[in-house]
Amino acid sequence: MGLPGCSVAFLCLLLLKAVGTLAEDDVREPLACTMPRKAQVDLSYRHLAQVPPTLPRDAQYLDLSHNNISQLRGADLDALTDLCVLKITHNGLRVISPAAFQQNRKLQVLNISFNALMTIPDLTLPSLLILDVSENLYESYRLGKAFESLQNLFFLALGSPRADTIKSSDFIPLNRTPLKKLQLGSGTEMEKYENGSFSNLLQLQEVTLKMTFCRRPELFRAMLRDLDSTKTMSVKLVKFLPDICNVSATLSDGLRDLRYLRNLTFQSTWFNSSVLSEIARNIIQSPIQDLSFLNITYAQDTSDGINIQTIPGFNRTANVKAITFDTIHHYQYNFPFVSINKTLFSKMTYLRFSGTGMSIVPCDVISNSPSLEVLDLSNNLLRDRGLWWSSCSFTDKFPSLKGLFLRNNKFEDLQFIADHVHNMTALDSLDLSTNTIKLTGQGVWPAHLTSLSLSDNSLGDEVFHHLSPHIRTLNLSKTGITDLTQAALSQLTSLRQLFLSSNVIKTLPQDLFAPKLEELHVDMNAIISLNPQMFEGLPGLKKLKAGHNPFACNCDLYWFVTSFNKTLLLDWPYDYTCFSPPNLAGVLLSQYQPSRVHCDPWIQVAISLVITLTAMAALGVVFYACDGAWYLKMLWVWLRVKRRGYQQRNRMGQEAFSYHAFISYSQEDSMWVETQLVPTLEGAGLALCVHKRDFVPGEWILNNIINCVEGSYKTLFVLSQNFIQSEWCNYELFFAQHRALSVHQDSLVFVLLEPIPADSIPRKYLKLRNLLRLQTYLEWPEEECKRQVFWASLKAMLRTGGGSVVLRDVAQEIAYLCDPLEANEPLIQKAEE
Ligand SMILES: *[C@@H]1O[C@H](CO)[C@@H](O)[C@H](O)[C@H]1NC(C)=O
Ligand SMILES: *[C@@H]1O[C@H](CO)[C@@H](O)[C@H](O)[C@H]1NC(C)=O
Ligand SMILES: *[C@@H]1O[C@H](CO)[C@@H](O)[C@H](O)[C@H]1NC(C)=O
Ligand SMILES: *[C@@H]1O[C@H](CO)[C@@H](O)[C@H](O)[C@H]1NC(C)=O
Ligand SMILES: *[C@@H]1O[C@H](CO)[C@@H](O)[C@H](O)[C@H]1NC(C)=O
Ligand SMILES: *[C@@H]1O[C@H](CO)[C@@H](O)[C@H](O)[C@H]1NC(C)=O
Ligand SMILES: *[C@@H]1O[C@H](CO)[C@@H](O)[C@H](O)[C@H]1NC(C)=O
Ligand SMILES: *[C@@H]1O[C@H](CO)[C@@H](O)[C@H](O)[C@H]1NC(C)=O
Ligand SMILES: *[C@@H]1O[C@H](CO)[C@@H](O)[C@H](O)[C@H]1NC(C)=O
Ligand SMILES: *[C@@H]1O[C@H](CO)[C@@H](O)[C@H](O)[C@H]1NC(C)=O
Ligand SMILES: *[C@@H]1O[C@H](CO)[C@@H](O)[C@H](O)[C@H]1NC(C)=O
Ligand SMILES: *[C@@H]1O[C@H](CO)[C@@H](O)[C@H](O)[C@H]1NC(C)=O
Repeated sequence: MGLPGCSVAFLCLLLLKAVGTLAEDDVREPLACTMPRKAQVDLSYRHLAQVPPTLPRDAQYLDLSHNNISQLRGADLDALTDLCVLKITHNGLRVISPAAFQQNRKLQVLNISFNALMTIPDLTLPSLLILDVSENLYESYRLGKAFESLQNLFFLALGSPRADTIKSSDFIPLNRTPLKKLQLGSGTEMEKYENGSFSNLLQLQEVTLKMTFCRRPELFRAMLRDLDSTKTMSVKLVKFLPDICNVSATLSDGLRDLRYLRNLTFQSTWFNSSVLSEIARNIIQSPIQDLSFLNITYAQDTSDGINIQTIPGFNRTANVKAITFDTIHHYQYNFPFVSINKTLFSKMTYLRFSGTGMSIVPCDVISNSPSLEVLDLSNNLLRDRGLWWSSCSFTDKFPSLKGLFLRNNKFEDLQFIADHVHNMTALDSLDLSTNTIKLTGQGVWPAHLTSLSLSDNSLGDEVFHHLSPHIRTLNLSKTGITDLTQAALSQLTSLRQLFLSSNVIKTLPQDLFAPKLEELHVDMNAIISLNPQMFEGLPGLKKLKAGHNPFACNCDLYWFVTSFNKTLLLDWPYDYTCFSPPNLAGVLLSQYQPSRVHCDPWIQVAISLVITLTAMAALGVVFYACDGAWYLKMLWVWLRVKRRGYQQRNRMGQEAFSYHAFISYSQEDSMWVETQLVPTLEGAGLALCVHKRDFVPGEWILNNIINCVEGSYKTLFVLSQNFIQSEWCNYELFFAQHRALSVHQDSLVFVLLEPIPADSIPRKYLKLRNLLRLQTYLEWPEEECKRQVFWASLKAMLRTGGGSVVLRDVAQEIAYLCDPLEANEPLIQKAEE
């Protein structure tokens, strides 16, 4: 049934995490469904009154919790044949049709807790692994015959405040199921438990009893006895005692006789020191090894507190190896007085006092545990001298201590701590995360300390100078590091694992050299790119976490996306998204596919070479075929026009012109002007004032010229020997008379109909000689092909707008006309930008 293989199991574990409330505690069996994100549908808190009819058919995970779905009808889920996990909690669900899950043969997890079911539904779900029907309103724990078909069920939760009896016949249908974990009850007191009710659940390993045993302690004894007969290893008692209760002296006697129980947990219960001492004495005589108290309220009703000094008639040591106190509410606002016998607890290796509010360690307890290997004092209010306090000498107290966890306290002085862990001669792991550590002096760390966590302290880059070269595992997550340098790391010569999550590192050093480094976490930083140089000095790297960084999706990331070995990444692909550019923001890196042509430098070099060669070849061809020198000259003209274009960009806009151009020409050339020039330019939408045509008859020629020149954006002269001989004198006169008149030289455009050497112009036309020498002019070409270019340049020069427009138009025209030049088009556009 399952998909074997570690990657699948790993995936499932991840998914179980994602499923959230299916905590690892409850569910260790991996699910056999893959549940990719797109197959997960979360419709919780939507005010739904029924299962929506339009659910994606490939949904594997469906959460409908916290809605108002009062019944599951036969066909509601028929379409979801791949459904693997279904949660419909907190819905007021009253009725589940017997046909509801007929089509959901793959369902493995069903959570219908916190509803109003009046009976435990009878389900035929061959694949079901986990079923939670707790916190409903049924009156009996009797299971229907269909439970016999749940051949894979390994976790079952039942509980209803209205069911107060457990009968031996209730669980008979489960006789053949491989049920390993059972949760029973809803926090109320049971009235009756029939001997042997649990005895048939032969595979049972872990049981949670959510019920109080205040009035009927004998039920507790009976249940324990039956659970021991099934060889149950782990029992959790939730709400074992209420706050007001006349606890029977013999309540916990049953613990003494157990043979198989190893782990015992009390959760969310009330304890008096008298009761706790009594329970502890019984536990010491039991096979229990792992004892936990989670979220308990503790009141001291005896003067000597918890006293476990002597147990009459018991001369062995306790089996207890681990004791956990997690979250203690102190009823009297003072700390429990504890006195225990050192030899009794000589097997103890693990002790945890967490969330107890202590500011000074219970020296008497801790220093009586010479075998202790792990001491976890997280989530308290300890300061440096609260742990190392003067009247509690630790010099010879922790000969075996390997791990010291001081997370989330008020420790401050790193130097003080470094100096004081020397005497814990076996200590290799120290956790100081979430404190208020300050870098005071240069502490000397002992060589035996190889694992250190300083995460979640405000330390900064300076921290690297306060560490030991012996450290192999270093957690500096969330410490405000802004810069990681090779110089800082070079001192940490033994480093195997480096965790730098949640800092503000912008880049990894290019010269990083840490040949022993096996695992590196730089997720949740400010890294925008990763390149091969960063990893050259890390030949031993086996695991990398770099997700949740603001990656810039451009060619710099090409190598990472395409070539980096993704099996090294612990958080690929879902934690890797583009941050910029904006159009790619949020896209998964695994879906971002930069083109190789675009990004690979070698290909680029090759392509540039090819383009350059092609372009050169094309240019050669053009030079040969189309008279390249002529084109170059044109290009020169455009460039000058462009330069001027900047200066006069707004002239057309600022002044009012009636014409784009005034055209002046000789009568001899009127043929060309009327058949070629005027139709072409007017065809392109340019307004022209044509000498002859638009001159007002009767006016003196000079006045006509003045009017036309001033009314036009440009003045176009069609130059030929004829024009120079017959017409130019008027203009020479005009320019002479209107020197003061601001006629922009830039507005003059010359078209040479035939070659006119400057020398051939009569000396008296000084202006024209100068203008032709300075001014760019266009020559009317003989060849048809070049004429197109001529027209394009001319139109562009007469049109309004900047030089870039001129250039682009011309460039396009050229590209269109002379194919070989096409490859060069981008070059021209570049030149124009
Ligand atoms: C079922 O859902 C409830 C409410 O969310 C949760 O407390 C419980 O742990 C879930 N049961 C399982 C087996 O995950
Ligand atoms: C839930 O549905 C019932 C009818 O099925 C309706 O009477 C009730 O008001 C609804 N409650 C909410 C909170 O929507
Ligand atoms: C259950 O078993 C215990 C011990 O064997 C016995 O004392 C008790 O009377 C039994 N209870 C019932 C109801 O049979
Ligand atoms: C704790 O002790 C007080 C006082 O002796 C008593 O009233 C109360 O019922 C006890 N509660 C428990 C849970 O032992
Ligand atoms: C505890 O015992 C006292 C006297 O024996 C009695 O008055 C009281 O009601 C009992 N409390 C409970 C919660 O049973
Ligand atoms: C018992 O507790 C130990 C230590 O917490 C744990 O490793 C082990 O898995 C537990 N066993 C069971 C059966 O829960
Ligand atoms: C802790 O225990 C108290 C009762 O003793 C209960 O009301 C509360 O919900 C518990 N808290 C958690 C987080 O379990
Ligand atoms: C501690 O326990 C051992 C063994 O049970 C016993 O011999 C010794 O007397 C106890 N010590 C004290 C001070 O009660
Ligand atoms: C413990 O007591 C038993 C008898 O009750 C005795 O046989 C045994 O030797 C004692 N063990 C120790 C270590 O004193
Ligand atoms: C460490 O132990 C030595 C002797 O073993 C002692 O002199 C020294 O004071 C101790 N240091 C601390 C910090 O406890
Ligand atoms: C490092 O410390 C942070 C914060 O205390 C913690 O969340 C994280 O799990 C640690 N990293 C590793 C790899 O242990
Ligand atoms: C990627 O890394 C894994 C684990 O280190 C290795 O087994 C695999 O061969 C590598 N793949 C490539 C293509 O280098």
